[in-house]
Amino acid sequence: MADRDDLDFTYSLIDRIFRLSLGELADFSGAKYDGDFSLTLEQAQRRKHEYVAERIGIGPGRRVLDLGCGWGPLLAYVRERGGDGVGVTLSSAQAKACRRHGLEVHLQDAREVTAADFGNFDAVASLGAFEHFCSPEDHAAGRQEQVYRDLFGHIADLLPAGGRLYLQTMVYGRNMIPLEEVSIDAPRDSDGWYLALMSRQFPGSFLPYGQEQVVECADPRFRLLEGSSGRLDYLETIRQWRKRFGEPDLRKTLMKARLVPRYLTSSDFRLAFTSGVSANSICFERELMDHHRLVFEKRG
Ligand SMILES: C[S@@+](CC[C@H](N)C(=O)[O-])C[C@H]1O[C@@H](n2cnc3c(N)ncnc32)[C@H](O)[C@@H]1O
Repeated sequence: MADRDDLDFTYSLIDRIFRLSLGELADFSGAKYDGDFSLTLEQAQRRKHEYVAERIGIGPGRRVLDLGCGWGPLLAYVRERGGDGVGVTLSSAQAKACRRHGLEVHLQDAREVTAADFGNFDAVASLGAFEHFCSPEDHAAGRQEQVYRDLFGHIADLLPAGGRLYLQTMVYGRNMIPLEEVSIDAPRDSDGWYLALMSRQFPGSFLPYGQEQVVECADPRFRLLEGSSGRLDYLETIRQWRKRFGEPDLRKTLMKARLVPRYLTSSDFRLAFTSGVSANSICFERELMDHHRLVFEKRG
């Protein structure tokens, strides 16, 4: 699993720049354009929230757990709809930012949440966090499926029979290459180089192999009700993010300046944040990666 240091590297470091670029309580996962790229980023994120709400039941009095809640966008939506949301994240900056907005967020490992922590829930959601739950080491040791099965077991124990789980995650796509070819020393612009860049941006993280692996691991406790690919929508989401991050702003420039020592001393940092390419986009375009929205129901 990506640990706290890994997640602080990926998320806490960019906390203020993220909030200045995208707004407080913004989503950091693929939006739902459904191919209609005339929507604004905010409209497409809103459409995603509405879709999740409709599928898992978000509304007055409903208790919803958000595993890997980021800067709290879904929790804010749950609150707006009269529900009661609880979130967990391993990024300390995210937890602080969420709490400033009155959201109930705990700095806790999403994989280990039990009813003893926050009670039971009517529904669970996890968007863009599943990617971090298995590490390259877990995979190499043959533990990937066990990690997922344990997680689904924990989630099922929090829900009533028929309770719903919405899971949105990147996966390795149909053109994924053998792992031996993934290397930062591979030729620049090769598949292996882009995938290695991804692993620098998201240290400690290893993706599931297609939605099939996820569905199979969930199967003893959950049946899949609905699944769709959000790959093309994710490409548009990233385009919009890059625009926002690039918009000039004096405060952002000052914050970026504070990261210069990190830039000078860490090659991982340079590769992750300043290589000038969007490894995510290229991996989606080449279908080295795909992205799935999955709606599950707990078996009875
Ligand atoms: C890409 S962000 C997505 C955030 C949010 N769900 C959204 O849609 O904007 C991934 C989130 O997963 C969290 N995360 C990853 N692994 C975690 C773990 N083991 N326990 C708790 N949170 C985790 C990160 O801290 C981060 O908040």
